[in-house]
Amino acid sequence: MTDAPSSPTRRDFLMLTTGAVGAAGAACFAWPFLDSMNPAADVLAQSTVDVDLAAIPEGQAITVVWRGKPVFVRHRTVAEIEEARKTPLSNLIDPESDQARVKEKHEPWLIVVGICTHLGCIPTGNKAMESRGQYGGWACPCHGSLYDTSGRVRRGPAPLNLAVPPYIFLTDTVIRIGAEEKAHG
Ligand code: FES
Repeated sequence: MTDAPSSPTRRDFLMLTTGAVGAAGAACFAWPFLDSMNPAADVLAQSTVDVDLAAIPEGQAITVVWRGKPVFVRHRTVAEIEEARKTPLSNLIDPESDQARVKEKHEPWLIVVGICTHLGCIPTGNKAMESRGQYGGWACPCHGSLYDTSGRVRRGPAPLNLAVPPYIFLTDTVIRIGAEEKAHG
């Protein structure tokens, strides 16, 4: 049986992942969703991406593409924020407080690069039917790493938390991924 032809977009994307076993399978979970949301060729060329947060209900997340990478934008519930904040740093593989991973006064919004820090698969958990794993964040389908509601790795083999990309709030409901905060002086 032969595989259905891949679109150039998808092939490009797969080239960005590692050659790890399972990487292509993981991309299958995520790519049709990404593909439906973005003209990838255009997006790949953009250095910043603006996201309208008003369209994301509490408890849900979307995936956008920024510089060719999937970025998860998640609207956390109060319970999810509390869960992240009550976890002792000593329980973490890559200790980092939840406060350090989100913007002050915008605690519900978690923005992370959706690439597993083990070998580059795309974790599940953004779509309603997908597993978020026992820590309620994301679950990597390739080798079982689990992330919590702050995107921090809670079970390996992934060694590091999901990366937080640079972003700023343009308004209370619009973020610009790829933009840095201006230094105050
Ligand atoms: S790529 Fe190996 S656990 Fe995610």
